[in-house]
Amino acid sequence: MIFEQIASGGCQSYLLGCEETRGAVLIDPEFSQIDRYRGLLGQHGLRARYVVDTHTHADHFSASRELGRTLEAPVVMHRASAAPFADMRLDDGDLLIAGALKLKALHTPGHTRDSMCLVMDDRVFTGDTLLIGGTGRTDLPTGDPHALYESLFERLLKLEPSLLVFPAHDYKGRSHSTIGAEVADNPRLQKKERAEFVQMMKSLDLSAPTHLTEALRTNMSGGKTVDQLLAEAAARTPFMSMAELRTRIGGNSGDVVVVDVREKDAFEAGRIPGARHIPRGQLELRVDGELPDPTARIVTCCEFGKISTLAAATLRQLGYTRAAALDGGLKAWRAAGYEVER
Ligand SMILES: [Fe+2]
Repeated sequence: MIFEQIASGGCQSYLLGCEETRGAVLIDPEFSQIDRYRGLLGQHGLRARYVVDTHTHADHFSASRELGRTLEAPVVMHRASAAPFADMRLDDGDLLIAGALKLKALHTPGHTRDSMCLVMDDRVFTGDTLLIGGTGRTDLPTGDPHALYESLFERLLKLEPSLLVFPAHDYKGRSHSTIGAEVADNPRLQKKERAEFVQMMKSLDLSAPTHLTEALRTNMSGGKTVDQLLAEAAARTPFMSMAELRTRIGGNSGDVVVVDVREKDAFEAGRIPGARHIPRGQLELRVDGELPDPTARIVTCCEFGKISTLAAATLRQLGYTRAAALDGGLKAWRAAGYEVER
């Protein structure tokens, strides 16, 4: 078997490949690593047969939908998942087969209602049901400490002690553990009575993960993250460095139209010399009046360089084929000591 473990931040995702058929299964792919998964598939000469999410993630952005679409592989989740883009829904005991790879779904609700573990001959992908030295939390939407107790003590921990445990998260750089080692050492698994375990889970008092709302919104709907919108806009927009723009607005060259897309107060407080003002919110409505020449060389700017990227991409879509965005924003412009007009 070809096996790759991909860590990004605390997220762990996995690429499994069959050496015979070259079919592959991706488990819990994370959005920022999309190019890496595609690169690894190519490097190993593999074709993705399935993209699996072990559960609806609340703390990071799943790449399953995007990879499923672009790699033409079904997105696989448990039957209880709310995600409308899941192409194949598994029941407890179902087997996912890709060449010599056989993964059995074990429904293990608790961290979320749709959590499942994937069991192979020598290993189990535990999602957030069982982590190394920990368990998934049960205080987020659809979490249930009673269900987690049953999933752990009545199912997962009864598997072979030698089975390797590969979790969906590890924040300390560890790659795997075993069922036996977790039963022996995992502090949370020392509460072996249901009431004790549930009480412990209820009293953890964890802070909400960053991006909780955005992660649930996108992972449950298949919608886009803000970073994804920005990345897509950036991919179809050239940029101009601050130093380059500065030389082009100096003197009488005047070949660049600087469009400041911030709100009025910010524009009036200080702008790039000669900049024109069209707030992002009014761009489409005012663009014909403000920028009658679609062949003009336009550079958009904002405070941090993000909204200006969206604006430049919009201008390009509207036919301003020379629109670019400033690489940086007014904050960096001021910090560089460049001239500001009031
Ligand atoms: Fe999770």
